[in-house]
Amino acid sequence: MKLFLDTANLADIKKYAEWGLVDGVTTNPSLIAKEGVSFEKRIKEITKAVKGPVSAEVISTEWKDMVKEGQKYATWAKNIYVKCPMTPDGLIATQKLSKAGIRVNMTLVFSAAQALLAAKAGAAFVSPFIGRINDMGQDGMELIDEITTMYSHYNFKTEILVASVRSPRQVAEAAMLGADICTVPAAIYEKLVKHPLTDQGLSTFLADWKKAQN
Ligand code: G3P
Repeated sequence: MKLFLDTANLADIKKYAEWGLVDGVTTNPSLIAKEGVSFEKRIKEITKAVKGPVSAEVISTEWKDMVKEGQKYATWAKNIYVKCPMTPDGLIATQKLSKAGIRVNMTLVFSAAQALLAAKAGAAFVSPFIGRINDMGQDGMELIDEITTMYSHYNFKTEILVASVRSPRQVAEAAMLGADICTVPAAIYEKLVKHPLTDQGLSTFLADWKKAQN
């Protein structure tokens, strides 16, 4: 499973890219707004910081404008993926862009039926938001299970990108279900490597080693 960072913070992207395991980056308008920087400038910086896919979301709500925006983003870098929302206009834009060779990440997906439409529209990625589903008292991981099962019956090229992730355990669960990609905020990425028994074990090993040298 590929691991993406879900952030527009350049310092975090550079920090975790150094670990060598960041396969791509996803952004959304809220994440960009938090940074207080120019959208175009930041997306270009991110595409230089990582080799893999970088998702940049359209702001328009009508398909013709979405297509124009997507075409513009695609000129910024080779690794741009255009994020289109799961709306009727988003579905039309996804088909137009995909047919023109521009890769689309269909976002704001909350049901298996929506994931089916994204795949039929030719999206490169489909982004189910599991955390927001859990926030409503439902089971986001169940949706991932449904989509992986559904896609396994067909030749869809669409990759399942698990988004809105709130814990390291959800990353492992997404991988166990065979999701293609999981995108995680920097705070969760940091926690992926952490375990108190690792820290405790390491400090015991080092202390024992030091004692043996004296
Ligand atoms: O980028 C899309 C998604 O990951 C947003 O997550 O935490 O705002 O629900 P969240």
